[in-house]
Amino acid sequence: LPAYTPLAPIPVNLAGRTAIVTGATSGIGFETARGLGALGADVVMVGRTHAKAASARHALIREGVPAERLTTAEADLCRPQQVAALGRELADRYPRIDVLVNNAAIYPAERVITPEGFEECWATNVLAYEILTTVLQDPLRAAGGRLVNVSSRAPMAGGLDTQDLFYERRRWSGVAAYKQSKQAIRMLSWAWDRRLSPDGVTVNVAHPDGTSTNIAGRQRGLWGVLIRSIFRTQRSPAEGADTSIWLAASPAMDGRTAGFYVDRGELDCEYRDDIEGGEHLWKYVQEQIDPWVR
Ligand SMILES: NC(=O)c1ccc[n+]([C@@H]2O[C@H](COP(=O)([O-])OP(=O)(O)OC[C@H]3O[C@@H](n4cnc5c(N)ncnc54)[C@H](OP(=O)(O)O)[C@@H]3O)[C@@H](O)[C@H]2O)c1
Repeated sequence: LPAYTPLAPIPVNLAGRTAIVTGATSGIGFETARGLGALGADVVMVGRTHAKAASARHALIREGVPAERLTTAEADLCRPQQVAALGRELADRYPRIDVLVNNAAIYPAERVITPEGFEECWATNVLAYEILTTVLQDPLRAAGGRLVNVSSRAPMAGGLDTQDLFYERRRWSGVAAYKQSKQAIRMLSWAWDRRLSPDGVTVNVAHPDGTSTNIAGRQRGLWGVLIRSIFRTQRSPAEGADTSIWLAASPAMDGRTAGFYVDRGELDCEYRDDIEGGEHLWKYVQEQIDPWVR
């Protein structure tokens, strides 16, 4: 791959292609929607509520993305039933989906158990990705599409314990829950690659690197003030989104799959070779989401 030039233009016209972006109302997801829309794609901006998604859509229109390229959809992504309903609605609307960017995630401030019994960070950062991928796999196959999952590299990934996913035995912390979810997403991405790439769907993982977004917005007290001020010194959301956009759009990524990328360049993934662990996790997570996707 050529040396990375931040935000270098991507030589492609995505007219007629459909791209779904979760977490499109803020930060990296908002910029990913802008980037894909600017390249000509029809972008579905997924937000927590209709009001949030519509307001983000209007913000992009005001900034020059043609209105007809942007539509919205909504779901509270920590609620599996809403995620599955969103997936079915999208599958009905789009028999072919060229790009799915699973981007939305949280860095939580407290251990919340959802009404379904999942720890909120696991539900949002892992199960929502899995439900959407599961429900949208046929439209992705029909298009020979691209799945882009947003994760993190160490030190913000690791510590997965499938015996204690919801921190009943371990001490919960927001960082620990976040790191566990980001390790899981990488392992699940390689498991999905084994299932989707034989049918022409590529699966790649983006690491945005430290980016000035709202990700630390839930943190409280002095820690909150400190961590938000650190995030404010990080790269811009447009720079953070660049790798996601490039993975979703670049002709250089045609046919390239199972890669972990930052700044358009490949990183090692320490979990890639753990096929047994990845398969175990994939099956376990499929059991968790089964009531909503079957
Ligand atoms: N920022 C970084 O330094 C960094 C580094 C590595 C990886 N990442 C990853 O980059 C991705 C984007 O994060 P960001 O930094 O752009 O953070 P952000 O500004 O907080 O954006 C997160 C997006 O996800 C949405 N979201 C979260 N929970 C949701 C829910 N239950 N239902 C619907 N939408 C929900 C948020 O909507 P609401 O505003 O409604 O909550 C928001 O649009 C994440 O996967 C994150 O882990 C970020």
